[in-house]
Amino acid sequence: MDRLIIRGGRPFSGSVQVAGAKNAALPVLAASLLVGGRVSLSNVPAVTDVGSMLDLLRMLGADVTEAENGRLSLSSAAVAGSEATYDIVRRMRASFLVLAPLVGRLGRARISRPGGCTIGTRPVDLHLQALKTLGADISQDGGVIEVAAPGGLSGARVVFPTPSVGATHTAMMAAAAARGETEIVNAAREPEVADLAAFLTAAGATVEGAGTHRILVQGAQSWRPVAHTILPDRIEAASYMIAAGMTGGRVEVMGGRLEHLGAACQALEEAGIRIFPSDRGLIAERDGPLRSVDVTTEAFPGFPTDLQAQFMAMMCLADGVSVIRERIFEARFMHVPELQRMGADIRQSGSMATVRGVKALHGAQVMATDLRASMSLVLAGLVAEGETIVHRVYHLDRGYEDIDGKLTRCGASIERVRG
Ligand code: EPZ
Repeated sequence: MDRLIIRGGRPFSGSVQVAGAKNAALPVLAASLLVGGRVSLSNVPAVTDVGSMLDLLRMLGADVTEAENGRLSLSSAAVAGSEATYDIVRRMRASFLVLAPLVGRLGRARISRPGGCTIGTRPVDLHLQALKTLGADISQDGGVIEVAAPGGLSGARVVFPTPSVGATHTAMMAAAAARGETEIVNAAREPEVADLAAFLTAAGATVEGAGTHRILVQGAQSWRPVAHTILPDRIEAASYMIAAGMTGGRVEVMGGRLEHLGAACQALEEAGIRIFPSDRGLIAERDGPLRSVDVTTEAFPGFPTDLQAQFMAMMCLADGVSVIRERIFEARFMHVPELQRMGADIRQSGSMATVRGVKALHGAQVMATDLRASMSLVLAGLVAEGETIVHRVYHLDRGYEDIDGKLTRCGASIERVRG
């Protein structure tokens, strides 16, 4: 397993190209199963989760051609497979997103129930609620979920008890394949939902209201070939903005968009990072000493749970005490003991962490446990005194494209040791 050796103390400065968002590419790739014709995508991030999804699409019968520079072309005309097995779903739980398009396209699907992961139990009940509301029959036998809609899906009113990004994707894709109109109430408002809505609309459905709590979908009468560009990764952009803030540098995140940051923008500015637009994206630079800020993770446009670990790394060096509450996932503090090994003063109590800023962190051997926790350890390594070795870097490679190259090009001293 690869590890990263980071020597801290250098400002993170320069320009970095934000890749396409993993969490937009995955649902769009799944939705490609609905479209019989050619799908051409650009700005697809070169991350291992996308590779896993492409492997699954090929297993199901899709013809996938990958070009360089984030471009790929695929056709699902020959798709006949309707099963996503345990080993695929275990490797990447977002494989679950193929369920709705398979039911919409083939009238049936079998999929392994995704287990939990290090950040929480990750239930899928809301996905199944949406499919059932649109007329699918659902049976569960041990770890396998069977969904059948031999007569097709019918538009209906789906009301979620709580916003869920994945379940909103599932509901939109099922609705796009359904007859008539579907109303999705209490939908997730993340920018990635709007990206999928744009894809489905270009492919032949009509999706209105994405980005609000209420989405209206008219099922596609017919599907047409689609060309779509994946939106930039807001979490990657914000992660590099934090890198500049922590190290006292100045970074231009090319492709970064203020409107995608939601409450994160205000929290970063309150922490002492000045953010302003450039003609290629956003510029972030340290603006005085780092200040402690309390944050609570919430659905978009609230503070994103996917940025919680990275923000905590920055709070470890801020003046004062910050209270970080994780409200989306029940176990998303795996980075805390690792940051403590680097000298951070963090007290965790359930879903709340109290961070007291320290003068400096020191390098240590640390273990990556999940995608975003891994990034928080890399960020801490950029400012820690001495050398930090981050083990199990495959977690990072799931969602951060060319992390070594991008960090190195902005001044970091980082080396990947393969093995
Ligand atoms: C998506 O996960 C993202 N993954 C996550 O990013 C992100 O953290 C999360 O949204 C929240 O923004 C992808 O898009 C591939 P949810 P998802 O459904 O869809 C509960 C990363 O690091 N829930 O919005 O699984 C759930 O337990 C990953 O890139 C149900 O109860 O998240 C959680 O408490 C991690 N039943 C809350 O909803 C369900 O059927 C929000 O989860 C589904 C979810």
